[in-house]
Amino acid sequence: MANYEEELLALFRTLHAHPELGFEEFETTKAVRQRLEQAGIELVETGLPTGVVCAIGHGEGRCIGLRADMDALPMSEEADLPYKSCVPGKMHACGHDFHTAAMLGAALLLKEREAELPGRALIVFQPAEELCEGARRVAETGVLDEPEWFFGIHSYPEFEAGTLGLRPGAVMASVDRFRVTLRGVGSHAASPHKGLDPIPVMAALIQSLQTIVSRSVNPFSPVLLSVTHAQAGTTWNIIPQEALIEGTVRTMDEQERAEVKERFYRQVEGVCAAWGAHAEIDWMDGSPAVINDPGLCALAESVAREMGFEVRQQEQTLGGEDFSEYLYRPVKRPGLFVRIGTGGGYAAHHPLFTVDPAALWPASQYIARLAEAAMKKQR
Ligand code: NI
Repeated sequence: MANYEEELLALFRTLHAHPELGFEEFETTKAVRQRLEQAGIELVETGLPTGVVCAIGHGEGRCIGLRADMDALPMSEEADLPYKSCVPGKMHACGHDFHTAAMLGAALLLKEREAELPGRALIVFQPAEELCEGARRVAETGVLDEPEWFFGIHSYPEFEAGTLGLRPGAVMASVDRFRVTLRGVGSHAASPHKGLDPIPVMAALIQSLQTIVSRSVNPFSPVLLSVTHAQAGTTWNIIPQEALIEGTVRTMDEQERAEVKERFYRQVEGVCAAWGAHAEIDWMDGSPAVINDPGLCALAESVAREMGFEVRQQEQTLGGEDFSEYLYRPVKRPGLFVRIGTGGGYAAHHPLFTVDPAALWPASQYIARLAEAAMKKQR
């Protein structure tokens, strides 16, 4: 087994210094493609301008999917690193540079073992995770239909390098968005009876929506509804025509997700009917919850322990991850999202976020070992 550590660290530092936002990952894509081609790894064309899919192994045996994401965030880096972002207003603050380098290392290791592999791996270096769009776009091309199981990785600042976070069941939430435009009738502030003021309708609606979680969801279920944006009017003496609210719904369960959506529509319609106002609802279904398969979780834990990793329980979060798209497209399939401890002391999306480079090479080795173990696993 060759040691790619120095090369991967150099790649990680280069990617970190040159962050690219979602669907603009042109240089990152080029770097990954070139290295895969140089190693003789088969590239799978997606037709998308950024992102890379490659295949390693043989047609017989189980096919598994592996996913890393590539994009950065529109924010400025404050950490004082020798390889700090050179691009003002862009930063790898979620470790996707680390994911790309770690997954490339895993691909190189799997390629070395290609003759002995009992199955096949399709590896996706995905664009635009931060836009909640990339996974859907790649999955819709159909090039990732084949894998029976799908594995994703993510850096985790809460654990030090050498630690992996695992947990069976739901670990991240579905992410749906809503926007409701309430239409009333404008008038003079002194003549409310000549108009239909949308502001009290908005206030009543916000209060009413808060009761969906508190009054109709099982209190043992993690469900969240946040109204995060409310807007109406322009000044003190005009009753406006319209009011707008926006927000998000998070759930860990598909049935609850559907039920909350249905109640949401009923409440908007009911509140508006009471006031005689009209509402326009824009509901945007985002990625589903990330559900870790218990069998794959046990497999990942045994591989981790064999390799000397400390294994800790991954925390649940109502944050989202579009990795879940691969668990539902084209059909529902088992998957696992592994957290790789990368230390650093600052949360993801913080301007001082850093990754401990010591986590990189072990991560590549772990992904490669886990992939091979998954190909061999009895059903
Ligand atoms: Ni991320």
